[in-house]
Amino acid sequence: MKKLNYYFKKAIKNGFALGAFNFSNLETLVSICQAAEKANSPVMACVSEGAIKYMGIDFVVSMVKTAKKQYKAPIFLHLDHGQSFEMCALAVDKGFDSVMIDASALPFEENVKLTKRVVDYAHKKGVFVEGELGQIKGIEDELSNDENHFTNPLQAQQFVQKTGVDSLAVAIGTSHGAYKFNGEAKLRFDILSEIEAKLPSFPLVLHGASSVNQDFVNQINSLGGALGKPKGVDEKLTHVAITKHNVVKINIDTDLRMAFTAAVRSTLATNPQNFDPRKYLQAAKDNVQQVVEHKIKNLLNSKNMA
Ligand code: G3H
Ligand code: 13P
Ligand code: ZN
Repeated sequence: MKKLNYYFKKAIKNGFALGAFNFSNLETLVSICQAAEKANSPVMACVSEGAIKYMGIDFVVSMVKTAKKQYKAPIFLHLDHGQSFEMCALAVDKGFDSVMIDASALPFEENVKLTKRVVDYAHKKGVFVEGELGQIKGIEDELSNDENHFTNPLQAQQFVQKTGVDSLAVAIGTSHGAYKFNGEAKLRFDILSEIEAKLPSFPLVLHGASSVNQDFVNQINSLGGALGKPKGVDEKLTHVAITKHNVVKINIDTDLRMAFTAAVRSTLATNPQNFDPRKYLQAAKDNVQQVVEHKIKNLLNSKNMA
């Protein structure tokens, strides 16, 4: 199987991005892989530390190992937001393809030091490393209106040179979770362009890229949910980041969670006599697969890029 840097280079050249989809259960992983195979697209299957705690790292590795054998699509196992050297080293040792060390909350020099330590360890074993600079804040965070949490382009250049990371997650206005914007959704493409001027053809990553489909929100709210008024990033904006910039990896978790939950609420509501989890989980799998297929085809442009 071709390595991740082959796809990052191809993505920059051809204006597509790899979907980096989070999973916390077998159903979601299978849906991601089936969608990737159907669309002949490379894909990154991502686990956060929380997801690892929930599933157990050996189950994660075994499931993805099986998926790689079973599906005719390049599937890369990635550690999302690794918080420590120890966590990243464990993922490397267990056979992950790629790890993210997220030391973005630390002062610049400490972020460099920790990230470089992970890079030195991972690269010896051929594992890719993503770093983060700037903070991907949400409306619930007090820093959300503060310019200083965006990635500083000059620091981005120094960070990449000093650490040797393979890709960099940048903060240009996206945030994690379902409540990203109070008013109009905006991304700082000016900052993205400045980063690209300092780091030509370097693979950039956009976290917090869920679009938060309002149909799912309405479905969940009308069937007993209480999500209020969540708001995501307009897919048109993310599409610009992919096709006109060097963003080669798009992180999506919330959209899959919404699709999953909407399907479970809906099947349980329409089949109150059912108590077989396979039935409502099948509906969840189908919904998640449809979302991943949609993202690959209409947002990521990664169809037939395997
Ligand atoms: O970036 C965060 C991902 O959505 C993972 O979230 O830590 O709740 O698994 P989690
Ligand atoms: P969303 O919450 O927008 O799906 O972002 C997920 C993410 O960035 C995972 O690292
Ligand atoms: Zn993230």
